[in-house]
Amino acid sequence: MKNNILLLVLFLFLVPLPASCVEKQVYIVHFREHEGTKLPLHEIEETHYSYLSSVKETEEEARASLLYSYKHSINGFSAVLTPDEASKLSEMEDVALVYKSEPRKYSTQTTRSWEFVGLEEGEGSNFNPHFAMGKDLLVKAGYGKDVIVGLLDSGVWPESKSFSDENMGPIPKSWKGICQSGVDANPFRCNKKIIGARYYLKGYEHFYGALNATEDCRSPRDLDGHGTHTASTVAGNRVHGAAAYGGFGRGTATGGAPLAHLAIYKACWAIPNQEKINGNTCVDVDMLAAIDDAIADGVHVLSISIGLSEPTPYTKDGIAVGAYNAIKKNIVVVCAAGNQGPDPSKLSNTAPWILTVGASTLDRKFFGSLVLGNGKEIKGETATPSSLDKMYPLVYASDVVQPGVAANVSSQCLPSSLSPVKVKGKIVLCMRGAGLRIGKGLEVKRAGGVGFILGNSPENGEGTSADAHVLPASAVGSKDAIEILKYIKSSRNPKATIGRPTTVLGYKPAPEMASFSSRGPNVIDTNILKPDIIAPGVNVLAAWSGGSPPSKLSVDPRRVEYNLLSGTSMACPHVAAAAALLRAIHPGWSSAAIRSALMTSAWMRNNMGQTIKDANGTEADPFQFGSGHFRPAKAADPGLVYDASRKDYDLYLCSYGISDPDPGFIKCPKTLPPTYNLNYPSVAIPLPNDTITINRTVTNVGPGKNVYFFTSKPPTGFSVEASPSVLFFDSVGQKRSFTITVRARDVQEAKQTYKGGYAFGWYTWTDSHRYVRSPIVISLA
Ligand SMILES: *[C@@H]1O[C@H](CO)[C@@H](O)[C@H](O)[C@H]1NC(C)=O
Ligand SMILES: *[C@@H]1O[C@H](CO)[C@@H](O)[C@H](O)[C@H]1NC(C)=O
Ligand SMILES: *[C@@H]1O[C@H](CO)[C@@H](O)[C@H](O)[C@H]1NC(C)=O
Ligand SMILES: *[C@@H]1O[C@H](CO)[C@@H](O)[C@H](O)[C@H]1NC(C)=O
Ligand SMILES: *[C@@H]1O[C@H](CO)[C@@H](O)[C@H](O)[C@H]1NC(C)=O
Repeated sequence: MKNNILLLVLFLFLVPLPASCVEKQVYIVHFREHEGTKLPLHEIEETHYSYLSSVKETEEEARASLLYSYKHSINGFSAVLTPDEASKLSEMEDVALVYKSEPRKYSTQTTRSWEFVGLEEGEGSNFNPHFAMGKDLLVKAGYGKDVIVGLLDSGVWPESKSFSDENMGPIPKSWKGICQSGVDANPFRCNKKIIGARYYLKGYEHFYGALNATEDCRSPRDLDGHGTHTASTVAGNRVHGAAAYGGFGRGTATGGAPLAHLAIYKACWAIPNQEKINGNTCVDVDMLAAIDDAIADGVHVLSISIGLSEPTPYTKDGIAVGAYNAIKKNIVVVCAAGNQGPDPSKLSNTAPWILTVGASTLDRKFFGSLVLGNGKEIKGETATPSSLDKMYPLVYASDVVQPGVAANVSSQCLPSSLSPVKVKGKIVLCMRGAGLRIGKGLEVKRAGGVGFILGNSPENGEGTSADAHVLPASAVGSKDAIEILKYIKSSRNPKATIGRPTTVLGYKPAPEMASFSSRGPNVIDTNILKPDIIAPGVNVLAAWSGGSPPSKLSVDPRRVEYNLLSGTSMACPHVAAAAALLRAIHPGWSSAAIRSALMTSAWMRNNMGQTIKDANGTEADPFQFGSGHFRPAKAADPGLVYDASRKDYDLYLCSYGISDPDPGFIKCPKTLPPTYNLNYPSVAIPLPNDTITINRTVTNVGPGKNVYFFTSKPPTGFSVEASPSVLFFDSVGQKRSFTITVRARDVQEAKQTYKGGYAFGWYTWTDSHRYVRSPIVISLA
């Protein structure tokens, strides 16, 4: 097996596999490419068959074993092979790499969110002048007209009002995709909003067996809710009077780019015999096929709210590989950072050609008052419309479990853990940790409880979610949880009652980091700062599937048109929408330029003028928020951009240690720049000695003639200087290179001050009204 080439795929066994697929595995076979010898598409496929036939007994066997022939993302195919056949293929000329593909599971985890970032006019939209001017952007971008956003997800519910094609312009002439109606009693239909839809389950069916028709359908239709939610957040049409279960968050639901077109690629499916709330599964070979088609179909932006629970090397990550090839066509690939916070270093989708999005809160809360027997009132959060009429006895879960429940989980209200005798007619305090938030309420209800309090454990901090629980409920931060526990332990007759929640707008401070949002450092390459940016991802209201209850639990008979969800999955489509608007305004910009504009215009402060805080109230830093909270309106006129082409990424991969990442296009040079010299809009550097110098190049996208001055905010004990420190531009598109030198006054002292950890600062180029800001992270390890 050759060691060159950028490629793929996951070794993550989250779901046990049936024994029958041990011998015959799915492999991806990747060919070398030779520039100038591109074959017509049907000949590429025939070539793939001929290679496959050479290791199989018969032509039929070869045809039956092929899963996908890839033509646009990579030149290669996926097929069911024995290890022996795979090894034969790997020795053939022109075969660059053969590797085994495993299934993986993604974690899933809007009316208000667009007002918050200033894209919509509405109550409270002007609370922060930095988020203003959004309406102008929407008008300038024609509300996303003529832009096509591809969604890789669990499909959509096409009948949702959010996907109506009222006021939509014609399907762009450049569109080359199709609409698969699927095998469905209710065929999937496209319109001028959803202009294309496809589904991919060959890889899924190999790993999980035939799709179970009661769990999911063989169609682009979404029976989960996740895909409907993310798609409507990017480009849902305007719907007045949308609200979640019980009337929460009522307002106008709209996507960020309400007149953009949607192309749906369903590659995520129900996990057999599991509750939907446990998530879907997406198989790499299916996702790669989806990205392959998305590239050929002509999408402009790809929104991928799919993440892994562990950082994964580029060469084993199907999304990174697919995205790498999507940027050849200048497609902006926007991905969720993952929901593995608050532990550090668990980011997914960290490749520098991807725009990686973390999640933060909105300034909207759904507060329900919780009153204890001692008269103390606590503000809890919930989106459950029911309430209690009087005081009920209050108990702590650990004190009311069945015999035999392990002590370390006894406080968590896991399924079948509570004793009905001890719980009947009471309110139960359950702690977060193992198990699902809504599932805990379900357990209290099963045991005959009348209400429940969901308490954060210390690692969850003060961040809470407004969930649609199945009984009166209140979610409280860890300080309040401890307070309630103390009350229970110290009172002879503890009691409480739970009131109906009300919606609070203009809540301060906001944004705040979501505790679940995955954080840096980026262990795949510590010289690339991730996440890139944050956007609303807590209690986001968007459209929902008619095939899934709001809690995603099978016992829940409720159906809703809109639902509140939290996750970096919800933050990702916000930024994808902003990218779509920028694409509409600046059709000639590269994907790196669009990302740069969003990052350098992002904002690090909350609506109280302080640095954005983490969920536990401490100051957050670029490992949590990257360049900061996105400000779409500012991004339209960034002044300067840090551009990067496919060649730059190729060179980056050479430096990273992947030899000849793109055969036929690049031969890695002998002397390689360090990876922190990739022309990235943020800076992450090691500091082995007292000084380090990095290179960057900016491109003028503002007025032709202009001058930019350098300013910086170095961390205490450091200096940050640019050379030159003034940049003169005479024309649009002109490039200027500069170096940034970071110097520690005394490196030993700095290592002590920062305890061998990290120091944070930033630098800015400004022409006095544009601020092109880049965060700097210095590693003192
Ligand atoms: C299909 O799914 C339903 C619901 O999860 C389950 O009850 C049924 O046993 C499944 N059928 C098969 C063949 O696995
Ligand atoms: C708050 O959270 C951050 C990030 O998870 C962590 O580093 C810090 O120690 C926490 N602080 C407190 C007081 O819990
Ligand atoms: C609880 O402890 C048991 C064994 O002592 C362990 O297997 C389990 O993972 C623990 N659960 C949690 C949530 O920590
Ligand atoms: C960085 O910039 C300096 C000054 O322009 C130049 O001499 C050097 O070759 C550049 N280094 C790299 C790695 O590009
Ligand atoms: C740092 O200092 C060490 C020893 O003084 C030297 O060997 C090394 O080359 C220096 N590294 C850089 C990046 O200057």
